[in-house]
Amino acid sequence: MPKIIVIEPDGTRRELDAPVGKSLMQIGRDAGLDIEGACDGAMACSTCHVYVEPAWVAKLPKMGEDESDMLDLAFGVTDRSRLGCQIVMTEELDGLTVALPKNTRNALLG
Ligand code: FES
Repeated sequence: MPKIIVIEPDGTRRELDAPVGKSLMQIGRDAGLDIEGACDGAMACSTCHVYVEPAWVAKLPKMGEDESDMLDLAFGVTDRSRLGCQIVMTEELDGLTVALPKNTRNALLG
C-alpha cells in the first residue's frame, strides 16, 4: 500500500498507510492527526490546508479554481499550499510528504 509522510506542527514525522482513492484529509483524520476537515471535502472550510513538500508540488494534479478560491481564505497560504481533501491518493503518490500548518481557518464559521 502507498504511504504518505505527514509532518506535524511540532516537527513530528508520521508515516501513514494511504489507500488509493482516499483523500489526504481522510487519511490524516482517520489516523487521529489534527486535520479537522470540517466540510468533509466539500471545499467549503479550508481546515484541511496542508503544505506540500517542494519535491512533490509539481507531481500533484493542478489545483482547480474552486480549490484556489477556498485557499484564498486560509491562513498562511504559500505556493506549496493545497487542500488535503482534494489530494486523492494514487500509487504514483507513494511517499508524498506534506506538513500541517499551525493554524487553520474554518470558512464555514465565517
Ligand atoms: S475538508 Fe473542507 S475544504 Fe477540505
